Amino acid sequence: MKKTYHIITIGCQMNKSDSERMANFLEELGYETTEEKYKADLVIINTCGVRQLAEDRIYGFVPRIKKENPKVKIVITGCLSGRTDVQRRMNDYVDLWLLTKDMTKLAEFLNKADKRELPDSYLKIKPKYDSTFSALVPIGNGCDNFCTYCVVPHARGREVYRPAEDIINEVKELVGKGYKEIILIAQNVNSYESIINYELSITNKGNGRKINKKINFAELIRLVNDIPGNFWIRFATSHPKDMSDELIKALAECEKACHHIHLPVQAGDDEILARMNRKYTVEHYLKLIKKIKTAMPDASITTDIIVGFPGESKKQFAGSVKLAKEANFDMIFIGKYSPRPGTAAQKMKDDVSKLEKKNRELALTKVYKKSTLENNNKDLGLSFELLVETASKGYSYGRTRTNKYVRIVNNPLKENLIGKFVVVKIVKANDFGLDGELVLE
Ligand code: 5AD
Ligand code: SF4
Repeated sequence: MKKTYHIITIGCQMNKSDSERMANFLEELGYETTEEKYKADLVIINTCGVRQLAEDRIYGFVPRIKKENPKVKIVITGCLSGRTDVQRRMNDYVDLWLLTKDMTKLAEFLNKADKRELPDSYLKIKPKYDSTFSALVPIGNGCDNFCTYCVVPHARGREVYRPAEDIINEVKELVGKGYKEIILIAQNVNSYESIINYELSITNKGNGRKINKKINFAELIRLVNDIPGNFWIRFATSHPKDMSDELIKALAECEKACHHIHLPVQAGDDEILARMNRKYTVEHYLKLIKKIKTAMPDASITTDIIVGFPGESKKQFAGSVKLAKEANFDMIFIGKYSPRPGTAAQKMKDDVSKLEKKNRELALTKVYKKSTLENNNKDLGLSFELLVETASKGYSYGRTRTNKYVRIVNNPLKENLIGKFVVVKIVKANDFGLDGELVLE
């Protein structure tokens, strides 16, 4: 009988994608997946350390898994795997602490490191995609930016980018299998670079083109866009300091690129932005939004804002509220500041109370609910292409190119639309999404 594995993934899209690679790697080593985490031979926990809340999740269930099944082998990977304080706290329950980039060391740990050749980068491992129509395609890993609150550069290390050739081959394969959505991911996609020095034959247009040059993210988007097929391109995450005019132009011109830009601003006050080491000002950010909206009037823009960063006064927080109103975001992901071990901000005094952080979160939520509803109202009566993602309680749900969530109200699961493109006409707008009717063509 084959040995079984179970992977628990906490955190961002990058972790999800890493888990997909790990799953395939384990299957190549002869393991098979199981839903039963208390009975698996191997449990892998892909952790997130961005906030304390995410970290705390492992302290409860890791000991429980070991208690229920003392023979299980537990591997901790992801953002907490290199933290010595976490290792000391959990060492009794954990069999292997595995940095994500060292994924191939699993072979040795499982006594399967026979003569097989292991790739030099974990990004070369093929993934076992969770979805049959939407694929996360990492273009790199790590971050060099060292925002003072952020654990990612410490946990994932410096930026490493995948060769464009590997990315293009992966996308071509996915499109060949009928995938409809390609999500290019990295901590900071805008700093992508790669040398292309091969005879490129990826598209009808490109056949035989000789290229030997450094390419950036804008050029990568154009190359992916050139791959023939009916699919959308999404990407995340962009850093406002590196969002170039060239990239905005490429997004506007590439017909497959979705006009949704997640552009984390983090704060609406220049002094706080400087202490966060973000390297841009509020003025720069607002100008960027104007440029994006000028080039792509239909673009939706979402952001991340941290409330209660050390020393953030009420007046400085009012700057975040003002910026949020001016930017008219389609969504704000709000994070209450959480000190992270090893970061520069950990040495600053975490002096905004829990209650005040909560109040600031509520105040910002009100602002974005209003702008989301206003923006969604503009879609009323219009028709949009939709990629259907799920079905539940009698309805199908999908997302528009601008990443708006739409419930299809006039086709109660008569046919399975999951993974298909359909056209919907918007009949109702809410502050969390839209209702649409299927338009039969
Ligand atoms: N505290 C609160 N939020 C954080 N984020 C990153 N680090 C912290 C922290 N220490 C948020 C940022 C980032 C998102 C992924 O998580 O807003 O963009
Ligand atoms: Fe963290 Fe800043 Fe890097 Fe984003 S850009 S991963 S917030 S250090």
